[in-house]
Amino acid sequence: MSEPLSVVILAAGKGTRMRNALPKVLHPLAGLPLIGHVLRLAAGLDPARIVVVLSPGMDEVAKAVAKLEPRAAIAIQDPPMGTGHAVMAARDAVAAEGSVLVLYGDTPLVTAATCRSLVEARREAGAAVAVLGMQPQDPSGYGRLRADGDGRLVAIVEERHADAALRRDGVCNSGLMALDAARIGPLLDAVPLRPEKQEYYLTDVVHLAVERGWSASWIEGPAVEGLGVNSQAQLAEVGGLLQQRLRTALLEAGVIMPAPETVQLAWDTAAAPGALIEPYVVFGPGVRLDAGAVVHAFSHLEGASVAAGASVGPFARLRPGAVLEEAARVGNFVEIKGARLGKGAKANHLTYVGDAEIGAGANLGAGTITCNYDGFAKHRTTVGRDAFVGSNTALVAPVTVGDGAIVAAGSTVTRDVPDDALAVARGRQENLPGRAPRMRESFRARRGS
Ligand code: UD1
Ligand code: CA
Repeated sequence: MSEPLSVVILAAGKGTRMRNALPKVLHPLAGLPLIGHVLRLAAGLDPARIVVVLSPGMDEVAKAVAKLEPRAAIAIQDPPMGTGHAVMAARDAVAAEGSVLVLYGDTPLVTAATCRSLVEARREAGAAVAVLGMQPQDPSGYGRLRADGDGRLVAIVEERHADAALRRDGVCNSGLMALDAARIGPLLDAVPLRPEKQEYYLTDVVHLAVERGWSASWIEGPAVEGLGVNSQAQLAEVGGLLQQRLRTALLEAGVIMPAPETVQLAWDTAAAPGALIEPYVVFGPGVRLDAGAVVHAFSHLEGASVAAGASVGPFARLRPGAVLEEAARVGNFVEIKGARLGKGAKANHLTYVGDAEIGAGANLGAGTITCNYDGFAKHRTTVGRDAFVGSNTALVAPVTVGDGAIVAAGSTVTRDVPDDALAVARGRQENLPGRAPRMRESFRARRGS
């Protein structure tokens, strides 16, 4: 595409049907806000401009947009008066030439291929506007494309204004539209205020173009791509469809997933061919699995990387900053945060490792806990290569256990342990011969009294 492309993302709607204080387009979908998906799509089209239309008071959304896509400009629609009015608000921020592609902030399943086809279709036809039509199973709520006798698009009619035949037979308007930037001005200026809703409809540009003798064209796209999110139920439905896409992509890339339908992926989950993901694993954003990494069932991973031959779970939690080097092992009921486990290091059961560096070959016994937080600040723990930390040990950070050191089970380690030292940091055991029967006697006597 040599001509410049401007992408306008409409997101000024209130989203009241979500029944949640969180703005609709900030609801998460596979670990990324709804609008993040649309911004990623837009950025992938290599556009000259990206403009997001918001309404006054949507500061939280504006902040999120700036973080998600710093190239995006914000246009404020004050007050929101319909989709046509929204594009008018973005008008000064779009390029004067080329195409203007209109997307919705709440419609995240649109693909780059469909966007490109739509923009191309308009350009090739020399049309003022091109519309993405679709034929969903349930067409209710959508506007309908009206064609003339020769099948040419002449108008988009909102459902409430459509007659029974058009409602039944008409192709639905997905809402996606490509416009000729050079002709968008006069078209938007001509859009009338619809008195019944006090709104300017973007869809009116179609018949306005045709009336001027400019053509309007349309193409049909997959109905799933037009699915919008207006309620929590639709968010879940769209999320399910996105999961299917993400799983299919991993499976096609050679990731082993015996029960993909039980695995929840994040938008950016990266897994190399030959990585194994067992059933019921949940991924937050920022996870990387190398080839030969294994994630056992019922584990939760976020912001973590797992190298070849390393394994996680079952029932393990990797939090942001968890790094498992080759052949490291994290077993059941183990939580790792901001910590690196060196090559072949092990934490097999019931352990918390936070803000730590665990050397290659080190072993953390069951119940090892890094006490990384003193109520005010976080501190680091270092465990050296091939060190052995006995079960039920508390490592009170900041603290270092040297290379090859051994810490006796049940220790509370508050001072550094030198390399190759044996640390015993617990009450010394005392055995009192024959005292057990006497003790039982005294208990019995007390209970009897
Ligand atoms: C719109 C179309 C309809 C199409 C449907 C597809 C019009 C008049 N109708 O209807 O033909 O089938 O989408 O989903 O365009 N928005 C703003 N500012 C506003 C109003 C809306 O930014 O003043 C944004 C919303 O946040 C949303 C998008 O535009 O992202 C669509 O708005 P919505 O009110 O849902 O349009 P529909 O009535 O569904
Ligand atoms: Ca809608």
